[in-house]
Amino acid sequence: MKSFITTPIYYVNDIPHIGHAYTTLLADMLKRYQKLKGMEVFMLTGTDEHGQKIEQSAKNKNQSPQDYVDSISLKFKDLWTYFNIDYDRFIRTTEIKHKMSVQKAFEKMQAVGDIYKGEYEGHYCISCESYFTPSQIQIQGKCPDCGREMQIIKEESYFFALSKYQDRLLEWLNNNDCIYPAFRKKEVINFIENGLSDLSITRTSFEWGIPIPTQEKDSFHVIYVWLDALLNYISALGWGDNENNMEFWGEAHQFIGKDILRFHAIYWPAFLMSLGLELPKRLYVHGWWLIEGIKMSKSLGNVINPKEIAESFGKDCLRYFLMREVSFGQDGDFSKLALINRINSDLANELGNLLSRTLGMAEKYFTLKLNINEQSLNEFSQENTEFNKILSSLDEWIDKMQPSRYLEELWKVFGLANMMVARYEPWVLMKNGQSERVQSLLVLLCNILIKGALALYPIMPEKSAEILDVFSIKPESNMYDFFITQNKFILNLELKKIGAIFPKVEIEILQEEQKQESNLKQQDQLIDIADFKKLDIRIATILEAEYVSKSNKLLKLKLDFGMYQRQVISGIAQHYLPDSLIGKQVCVLFNLKPVKLMGEMSEGMILTAKDKDSLRLIMPEMPVQNGSVIS
Ligand code: MSP
Repeated sequence: MKSFITTPIYYVNDIPHIGHAYTTLLADMLKRYQKLKGMEVFMLTGTDEHGQKIEQSAKNKNQSPQDYVDSISLKFKDLWTYFNIDYDRFIRTTEIKHKMSVQKAFEKMQAVGDIYKGEYEGHYCISCESYFTPSQIQIQGKCPDCGREMQIIKEESYFFALSKYQDRLLEWLNNNDCIYPAFRKKEVINFIENGLSDLSITRTSFEWGIPIPTQEKDSFHVIYVWLDALLNYISALGWGDNENNMEFWGEAHQFIGKDILRFHAIYWPAFLMSLGLELPKRLYVHGWWLIEGIKMSKSLGNVINPKEIAESFGKDCLRYFLMREVSFGQDGDFSKLALINRINSDLANELGNLLSRTLGMAEKYFTLKLNINEQSLNEFSQENTEFNKILSSLDEWIDKMQPSRYLEELWKVFGLANMMVARYEPWVLMKNGQSERVQSLLVLLCNILIKGALALYPIMPEKSAEILDVFSIKPESNMYDFFITQNKFILNLELKKIGAIFPKVEIEILQEEQKQESNLKQQDQLIDIADFKKLDIRIATILEAEYVSKSNKLLKLKLDFGMYQRQVISGIAQHYLPDSLIGKQVCVLFNLKPVKLMGEMSEGMILTAKDKDSLRLIMPEMPVQNGSVIS
């Protein structure tokens, strides 16, 4: 069975952020899932490179539009390479093949009488590249979608006869399960029922776009960026050219954000009807990632860079968080604290713990080699029925595009497996000489880990592959078929040892960081010298430095203050090697209340300067006596 999965093509006026990554990761997740199920999948992503907004951004940077779009498109491509996105085609709307397809579509729509010439007079939002009728505008002059100031334009334009398709659109929407979540479909139906106006599909006041094929002498029209962009979904399959991959089109699963619903659920199907093509099978409409309830924006400086997060917390942990934290279709708040909580509770405590205790017992009691006969599993038939019930229900949640529910259910499997360990107490059974029972239990747990890792693969491809490798299994569709579809077990196992797969992340450092940030935000009042004098900052020499065990951020330092020696825990492990610190003089906040970090006492705080992503120690310009006071 074939399937076609698309992401929106991203505007190149902005560098990629967590919202863009979310859409693409969702598409990647669905592709990996469908491939495991043995389907032939074609995934498309790319960049949307024309339009007035892009032309302006290039001008602001003093670059030619082509140079500008080349550089930003590459940033998206690089990010998808970094995240190992399994796409089959990356389309750019500045490609010649795409341009030709778009011109062909224009001609075809013209030939069936859907395009006519007129004049557009009204509001246009450059940021959304969208027209608005007076009845849609709530605040005079402001875009109803993004709130920005709109332009009033008056220019000659070709129009697409959108109103002609009103009834057919309603029929399609009312008779098909084509939009997920369903409440979005209602929104679209309401919008259409209020009446559709024809759509202006060419512009004459700028040049950065695809020229219409039937140019007249007196005016130069470029095709409206949304008509150009939407057509990428078929031009990438060869429409209007060699048609190489057009057989995928009938099975289109399209991911979009809620902000571009109208374009995909009204304009796009109308364009397809005009071209005599099938409509998409499904539109999956996700919500927005916000920061403390606010939309991300460059001007607010609250844009989250997905690579930075992945570098600190792991690519797969970020994927897990994005899929698990919000119910698909809803908005979500992105916070590091919420991400750490998910890593520590779901990943480290539940799955990581299950894997390490299973491996630990298999090693201790059976030197990592397990072998039982089939009947031995019968004594766990009750739990087995439960495992099977959950695992076989998982498909439903992908089918309804509810990845968070899928994961919630999958975690019930890991929860139940952990509960079995607590219930059967294998260490007690071993003492009582029931090693065969323990072996059977461990074989069952290994099979559950294999099944769980296969089910988790679409969301966490790297970590799942690592878990499966313990059992010498690959995340491939024949394995998925054996372990999940047919619910089979392997009874003879030789395990490989691995270290902690999900190390816990310390929360203290982050809390401290956040506390400091919010304190600073709140205290925008000035301090006087008496306040400063409360700080006792002294110079000390680092005598010893070592990593704090189980922490990848903390170093344990022994400091010499002349009269005293003290231990300070400092979050600089990712910025300095312990040995390189010995003998260095640093500034230390001496009268800070002592705290325990990761079980280690810390008396004082080493002062650092934050330079972008790195921390740099503050040091005296030349050696001074240890204990010297900073004033
Ligand atoms: N170029 C158009 C799409 C054309 S598709 C034929 C466009 N590009 S975009 O770069 O602005 O947005 C692309 C996708 O990123 C949209 O699905 C949008 O919803 C998503 N996101 C952008 N910011 C987002 C968040 N903060 N959160 C989640 N996704 C959001 O629109």
